[in-house]
Amino acid sequence: MKDILQDLDARRADAKLGGGEKRIASQHSKGKLTARERVELLLDEGSFEEFDMFKSHRCTDFGMEKQQHAGDGVITGWGTINGRMVYVFSQDFTVFGGSLSETHAEKICKIQDMAIQNGAPVIGINDSGGARIQEGVASLAGYAEVFQRNIMASGVVPQISLIMGPCAGGAVYSPAMTDFIFMVKDTSYMFVTGPDVVKTVTNEVVTAEELGGASTHTKKSSVADGAFENDVEALAEVRRLVDFLPLNNREKPPVRPFFDTPGRAEASLDTLIPDNPNQPYDMKELIHKIADEGDFYEIQEAFAGNIITGFIRLEGQSVGVVANQPTVLAGVLDIDSSRKAARFVRFCDAFEIPILTLVDVPGFLPGTSQEYGGVIKHGAKLLFAYGEATVPKVTVITRKAYGGAYDVMASKHLRGDFNYAWPTAEIAVMGAKGATEIIHRADLGDADKIAQHAADYEERFANPFVAAERGFIDEVIIPHSTRHRVSRAFASLRGKQLTNPWKKHDNIPL
Ligand code: HXC
Repeated sequence: MKDILQDLDARRADAKLGGGEKRIASQHSKGKLTARERVELLLDEGSFEEFDMFKSHRCTDFGMEKQQHAGDGVITGWGTINGRMVYVFSQDFTVFGGSLSETHAEKICKIQDMAIQNGAPVIGINDSGGARIQEGVASLAGYAEVFQRNIMASGVVPQISLIMGPCAGGAVYSPAMTDFIFMVKDTSYMFVTGPDVVKTVTNEVVTAEELGGASTHTKKSSVADGAFENDVEALAEVRRLVDFLPLNNREKPPVRPFFDTPGRAEASLDTLIPDNPNQPYDMKELIHKIADEGDFYEIQEAFAGNIITGFIRLEGQSVGVVANQPTVLAGVLDIDSSRKAARFVRFCDAFEIPILTLVDVPGFLPGTSQEYGGVIKHGAKLLFAYGEATVPKVTVITRKAYGGAYDVMASKHLRGDFNYAWPTAEIAVMGAKGATEIIHRADLGDADKIAQHAADYEERFANPFVAAERGFIDEVIIPHSTRHRVSRAFASLRGKQLTNPWKKHDNIPL
């Protein structure tokens, strides 16, 4: 028996070495942790239970039968994050560059299947050169099996991807179908084809960082939802995110103990809105002042800053926040901000996370670049996402709510449950200047008359009361009471039940 146990220990120690000491040292020298170190940091101490530690590849081409590494380049299993179960896979770059073989794929598929069956999130730590070249189509088939499970898991369990190394080819499409992608600055890349192929095909000369680094994907392409300084920070932040999320679509998000007063009044909010309607203010100040303990987990902070998305807690309950940001492009809705917010709203709705919408929006951005880029379809995504969402929806209009953007931003007409406005709200088809120039075109040559018309228009529409008289605004609230009112609104909606008509699935304008 002793010999058998010693043999097991030796086999385990060998498996834990992955591609060997030299490659581990090389991984460390790049500022990267190993696949195992990452799993240990991600999960609660001692909670990791591994599957398939000894699984190895079956390839016999190119002398591969002589190159065997127990585990075949990916560590899989389950553990807990703050006591709540998650499944995890972590690709080991020290084994064939973390490339995906048939058996490597089987290991990932096993935990995906278990996650769907048992209702727990999947966290994928990606560090992979893509399809294992020596295995050819078997590797491509493996990828497709993983993709199919990504699709089946979507909306059933949260799926989170960490990109912690070069990810090429198939290695980017699986993360692309997950709910959130986080990258590590300077050590992670995502591209369909690398710089060499780009040069051959298009003659473009581009570095890996420019083509697919964290900055590119968080600021330009919006493929990634956040970028962190190093592996340790990225793993810690994913732990933080998981705390906001339910384990699956049949469970409510977790309720955490909170150390804040639901009725906390914030006197400073009464002066948040500047006297000049064209002067910006920072909407994040309002979000922080509404949130329990001022804690806000922002998603896609570096992209489309004219809209803010992220998670807060109210009375310990997770709430998704969507807010126009007047400091960036006056908070206008455009292609990028509509896409960003639509995806976030759909995530919240899929996982029963109530949505708080804070509105200060001058409308949709006009112009040829927006129209040619399809702002109609992209704007419709957000409209569609809000309209189909059945989770509790509470909206606060702080200042402008003009035109179609008023309708889109979780208005009463899109089944908003509580639609509040501050006394400073202006709810109208457009601003006074634009409106006057259209409806009093004949007076355009007379500056005095135009000024009078604009003043009349403002008097009539630059307030929340026209909408409140029709019941489109449920209540005009005092800014300092916003946290209190919003918390009570969500508390009253905890038993909300609303279902959409039966359909196979909808046809959101993609
Ligand atoms: C097999 C691979 C591999 C791969 C890397 N390795 N990628 N082995 N299949 N795809 C091995 C290397 O041979 C090397 O082995 C070790 O991993 C480390 O690789 P290096 O090149 O030394 O590392 P580095 O310089 O950091 O470069 C990493 C890299 C590069 C950028 C990922 O290796 C690379 O470009 N690999 C190929 C990427 C690629 O084209 N993949 C196929 C995509 S097509 P040794 O023994 O020397 O340590 C695809 C199709 C799926 O994925 C499509 C589905 C939709």
